[in-house]
Formats: sequence, C-alpha cells, structure tokens
Amino acid sequence: MSSIQKRKLKALVADEVRFFRSWMGKPLSMGAVSPSGKALTKLMASFVDPDDTLPVIELGPGTGVVTQALLERGVAPERIVSIEYSADFCRLLEKRFTGVKIIEGDAYALERSLNGCIAGPVSAVISSLPLLTQPPARRSGLIQAAFDRLAPGQPFIQFSYGLASPVPPDTALFSTSHTGWVMKNVPPARVWVYRRAH
Ligand SMILES: C[S@@+](CC[C@H](N)C(=O)[O-])C[C@H]1O[C@@H](n2cnc3c(N)ncnc32)[C@H](O)[C@@H]1O
Repeated sequence: MSSIQKRKLKALVADEVRFFRSWMGKPLSMGAVSPSGKALTKLMASFVDPDDTLPVIELGPGTGVVTQALLERGVAPERIVSIEYSADFCRLLEKRFTGVKIIEGDAYALERSLNGCIAGPVSAVISSLPLLTQPPARRSGLIQAAFDRLAPGQPFIQFSYGLASPVPPDTALFSTSHTGWVMKNVPPARVWVYRRAH
C-alpha cells in the first residue's frame, strides 16, 4: 500500500470513528452509524446541475461525503452552502472544504440559519437529514421552506433507508420520484427527488 493510500485509509477510519461517536451521543439527530457510501452520494449529486450558477443548499453534511460528491460532480465550491447542526462537524468541514460556506445551524429553521447569506433562488437543496426521526409536520415544514427557495422545477434531493417517501406526500404541491435501491450502501438506501408542480 502506498503512503497516499495509507493516509486515505486513515482519514476514512477517523471519519467512521467520529461519525459513530456522534451517533452514540445523538442517535436521533445522526440517523446513521456511518457516513453514506460513494455510490449513494454520487447518485444524489447526479441530480444537481453543475453548470447552473445558482447556489446549492446542503442540509446535514456530517463529515462531508455528499459535499465531496458535489465537488466531484463539478459544482463550484463557492456555490455550496452547507448547514450542519454539530459544531465539531462544522470545524472539520471548514478545514476540509475551502470555498464552501459552512453554517452551524438548524436546517429546520432554514431562513434563520441562512441569515441572508443567499439572496435569491437556489439551484438545488440536497439533504441527508434523518427525516424519519421527525414528526410529519416538521418534515412538511422543511420541504415548504426549501420550495420557497428553489427556482421553479429545481430538485429537493433526499436519501432514505425507508420504504415510503420520507416527506409526507402532497401531490397538489410537488411531484415525487425515487431511484432504485443502492445496495452498495450500508444499509441500502434510495434517493428521493421532489419538484414543485408548475
Ligand atoms: C445521516 S447524517 C448524514 C451525514 C452525511 N451527509 C452522510 O450522508 O454521511 C445526518 C447529519 O445531519 C445533521 N443534522 C441532524 N439534524 C440537523 C439539523 N436540524 N440541522 C442541521 N443538521 C442536522 C447531523 O448532525 C448529521 O451530520
């Protein structure tokens, strides 16, 4: 194993440990025992247009696996605004992702957390929040706030381990679609995409 491979492996193990510790302290807020896998994060990022110029809001970045997938997709770091609850993860993200705006705040209080740092509409909202640990009204409130920010037809992207839509269905307000199961993730997950009906 080369020294670069060794360093990458060490960083990966360190993130697993960080994540697991955080889950031990706040299981409901973390919603997972380890970071999402590459196949899942790549699939999530594939719904974001890298050529658009509008910002992308990321909710619940954790150790930054989805942030990394967005960058690998070609989204410019200056377009990404990531809102994370955990102060420890925020410090890690700031060190890891130059140019990405990291906000320590509550994603469910979207506008208060953004605090005016984005002026207009956004290109995508990409969320890894453990929605299923929240009551339906809170989840509906989140997607409403996201749609108030999203440019027409642009996606709210969410992964979920559950069988049903993690956002309570409201066909009058938005369209819902989902991918197949990503079996290379532990546990397997699907990506749900919501767009406001025109
Ligand atoms: C399932 S983890 C996802 C982490 C990473 N994006 C991934 O896919 O591996 C959920 C993340 O959401 C964060 N989180 C939970 N509730 C939040 C909230 N209300 N506002 C912002 N972040 C929150 C947690 O601290 C955690 O980092």
